[in-house]
Amino acid sequence: MRVVEVARFGAPEVLTVVEAPDPVPGPGEVVVDVVAAEVLWVETMIRSGNGGPYFPVQPPYRPGAGVAGTVTAAGAGVAGDWIGRRVAAATGDHGGYVERALLPAGDLIELPDGLACTDAAAVLHDGTTALGLMDVVEIKPGDRVLVTAAGGGMGALLVQLAHAAGGRVVAAARGRDKLERLRRWGAEVVDYATPDWTASVAAAVGGLDVVLDGAGGRYGRAAFDLVVPGGRFSAHGTPSGAFAPVDRDAAAARGITVTGIERVQFPPGRFREYAARALHEVAAGRLTPLIGQTYPLDRAAEAHTAIENRSAVGKTLLLTS
Ligand SMILES: NC(=O)c1ccc[n+]([C@@H]2O[C@H](COP(=O)([O-])OP(=O)(O)OC[C@H]3O[C@@H](n4cnc5c(N)ncnc54)[C@H](OP(=O)(O)O)[C@@H]3O)[C@@H](O)[C@H]2O)c1
Repeated sequence: MRVVEVARFGAPEVLTVVEAPDPVPGPGEVVVDVVAAEVLWVETMIRSGNGGPYFPVQPPYRPGAGVAGTVTAAGAGVAGDWIGRRVAAATGDHGGYVERALLPAGDLIELPDGLACTDAAAVLHDGTTALGLMDVVEIKPGDRVLVTAAGGGMGALLVQLAHAAGGRVVAAARGRDKLERLRRWGAEVVDYATPDWTASVAAAVGGLDVVLDGAGGRYGRAAFDLVVPGGRFSAHGTPSGAFAPVDRDAAAARGITVTGIERVQFPPGRFREYAARALHEVAAGRLTPLIGQTYPLDRAAEAHTAIENRSAVGKTLLLTS
């Protein structure tokens, strides 16, 4: 089978496709023929060698965190009726940019009827984290909510969830293409590449009760100044270089609750619960992943390039055929 490997840290071109033996399931394991693999922003960070202490991965390794596809083989102790079922699963350290994934049967989440594998892969991590964040910040009807990196895979889900919770949502992203796609979910849109973007946010809604900061750095820092006393600020994103540098004492003095990525890093059981919820929300038509681009497995390097140069819109997936 074909798998993508990273033999050394570096630019997207270090993602190379190699042939590997087909996996054989051991006790308690299954093989999933992968239809779609999710690509996460953090995977570009790790591949470039900037995983830091949070992601102490060393090459050679197989990138990728989650897949959706069909169970084609089961090892001893696994109920035979798993074979043929469509599933999604986090792939842990084994990598997800693969044609066939070897997985513990206990990690599988069965797809609801009618849900496409592409949609399932698109919300596996993004939907899990987005639903987790909604439980952290507890949006109430009328809350003024800013989502940064709103044109990313998770951001587009957060815009929908915040709107559904009754929030007045401002979606901040860079460039008309992303912003236009976000309007359909009832959000005001602001281009945070413009110098006075926070003034535009203030003009739209005044102060902010909730910030869901997926961009980090200067974007998050600027957004923090708009949060009203009693507000909530989630600093869970780093694409602009670092988590939002929010002064915790200043936040406490203003009665603002600041939370970080640790609130949405779930043990496997909770992960599966949230992921299953995300899959059902999509199947029920209440949540729509914004899948902006797909690439064949062989072109994983292009997928990473699109994310890094910010041309990717919404979710990026790899497809095996
Ligand atoms: N997905 C998850 O499950 C999850 C879990 C925990 C934490 N996070 C964190 O949340 C953040 C967003 O994740 P995501 O999965 O939504 O990522 P994504 O789909 O790749 O979107 C990232 C967004 O970041 C923005 N961005 C800002 N500065 C950037 C830069 N210098 N380079 C590239 N992009 C930049 C881009 O939009 P603009 O060009 O419009 O700015 C892009 O749409 C990441 O830091 C990620 O690690 C995600």
